[in-house]
Amino acid sequence: RNHILALADWVPAEYEILLQTASSFREVLSRRTKKVPALQGQVVANLFFEPSTRTRSSFELAAKRLSADILNFSPGTSSLTKGETILDTAKTYLAMGANIMVIRHQQAGVPLAIATEMDRLDTGVSILNAGDGQHEHPSQGLLDLFTICSLLDAENPSIERLKSKKIAIVGDILHSRVARSNIYSLTTAGAEVHLAGPPTLVPHLFAGMINPKNEGKLFIHWEIEPALSDADFVMTLRLQRERMTNHLLPSLREYHLRYGITRDRLKLCKDEVRVLHPGPVNRGVELSSDLMDDPRVSLISTQVTSGVAVRMALLYLIADLDTQ
Ligand code: CP
Repeated sequence: RNHILALADWVPAEYEILLQTASSFREVLSRRTKKVPALQGQVVANLFFEPSTRTRSSFELAAKRLSADILNFSPGTSSLTKGETILDTAKTYLAMGANIMVIRHQQAGVPLAIATEMDRLDTGVSILNAGDGQHEHPSQGLLDLFTICSLLDAENPSIERLKSKKIAIVGDILHSRVARSNIYSLTTAGAEVHLAGPPTLVPHLFAGMINPKNEGKLFIHWEIEPALSDADFVMTLRLQRERMTNHLLPSLREYHLRYGITRDRLKLCKDEVRVLHPGPVNRGVELSSDLMDDPRVSLISTQVTSGVAVRMALLYLIADLDTQ
């Protein structure tokens, strides 16, 4: 692949390659030097048009660990404020020699639009989607997969271990690009995925994601209990209040009472259940504060740590090293 824009059409072999490559880079990161010269001479442009802490910093660190040069961009202090278009911004970074562009935008489709233009100009530039609107967040889906598969087999993380595991994804599914990427990766891996949340945030349209490829692997609930029952993993999502109109916005207290993940609710799950959250977390809303800070249950810090190795793998796999 020249670009990574979505996980919708990824096949099992691609997940396995990604997991193996990330595993090798995790070993590199455990060494004292932590660096490899794999992307020496390559330029990675981090074009984040929407705020980010984890994704932006971990792509930056991943690029540095691979010895690439990294260019960071902040919309508020850029020439976007003078009316420059997004495509002209991308072409400016192209003219500076960018080989890979990592794009985040609040509008779904912007990474695809830039990828299409880069291909039309025959630039050889690779585009990595770092989250576009409500569409997809493939690197988050992959780091979640790596986190789960590594917990099941630290030496050899593989999607094989996910077959028939039950994973509950709870909360604001409607606005979540993370949920979409995870639905694609986890159902392709053979896991059983149960979505749960209020009807306004888990609308019927998700039934449209149940297709012959994932039938029998994707389920929708408006009550939390059947989703949590005997679950191996619980992935809880942030209430994206900035994307909600007033009629969708539940009271935070009511939401926590009905859908918040608490120690009591986790008793419905398997004994060894672990909890994931892509971050940032509304503490005490989608997840109780004590669970979030309990390393025996919460995988949140592990997810962030995994992000660096997974993003090294993504940068390494899409870098067109033959043309350098
Ligand atoms: N999970 C995630 O995308 O976090 P950031 O918005 O901080 O990058």
